[in-house]
Amino acid sequence: MAGVGVDEAMPNDLKNTAEQIAVEAAHLVRTAWVRMRSGGEVAVDTKSAETDVVTAVDRESEELVRARLERIRPGEPVLGEEGGGALGGGVTWVVDPIDGTVNFLYGLPAFAVSIAAQIDGVSVAGAVVEPVSGRRWTAVRGGGAWLGGDRLSVSAADRLDLALVGMGFSYARDRRVRQGRLTADLVGQVRDIRRRGAASLDLCAVAAGWLDGYFEHGLHRWDWAAGALIAREAGATVLLPGEAADLGEDATFAASPGIAAELRAALAEGGAAEV
Ligand code: IPD
Repeated sequence: MAGVGVDEAMPNDLKNTAEQIAVEAAHLVRTAWVRMRSGGEVAVDTKSAETDVVTAVDRESEELVRARLERIRPGEPVLGEEGGGALGGGVTWVVDPIDGTVNFLYGLPAFAVSIAAQIDGVSVAGAVVEPVSGRRWTAVRGGGAWLGGDRLSVSAADRLDLALVGMGFSYARDRRVRQGRLTADLVGQVRDIRRRGAASLDLCAVAAGWLDGYFEHGLHRWDWAAGALIAREAGATVLLPGEAADLGEDATFAASPGIAAELRAALAEGGAAEV
């Protein structure tokens, strides 16, 4: 559907499709997780580093998403963490079949299926579904962000020294050390730091007011495509890779407006651009 026009109903349709498929994939992932926790084997490979893992369940989840998209939205390009792909003209589907794969593997129930519809690289609809809790976050560009039936808005935080801030580490060892230094610099300026291990859920946590801010360098498009839209639609100040040179070319940043400027300045002063 390259070059398709965006009529008013379309983003809602896209959101419904993303949610419906993410729920289905989340069911597959949850079933595999329960089986694994009762002693079942899951095949594991590594990717960019020995610590960067992909399981057979990541691949099965992405295959399911791709098959459903092909049936419901035939011909639209898909960019997925495991199967690759590229942004096309018109709608592109951006898919993380398990965000938080390391958590999944360890049995830690903080992982999600993330699906976004982007047009010209901009997210217009998205869904993040957490298989174990069943929580579903959704958003439509210009239509707000939702956790199930509840409309979300970010926290009213207005002091950086009282802010709870999430962050994440890259899989690359040298980079992790620099990220650790940046975090060490920040930890004395905020209430506390959280590192949950699933970027999409961190962004949804900002949307829900469970975090006042979040930053990470080196995310891939599939990590942020749905979550960043959800955070922005809940009122967060969001900066995507390529949008904030003072934070570094590949920084993702989301924060409640009351602390966004202060957090951004603290990160920039801490050397975020060199991370
Ligand atoms: C990872 C998680 C993690 C973040 C990494 C991501 P994956 O995604 O979102 O929190 O720190 O940068 O790569 O590999 O589990 O899909």
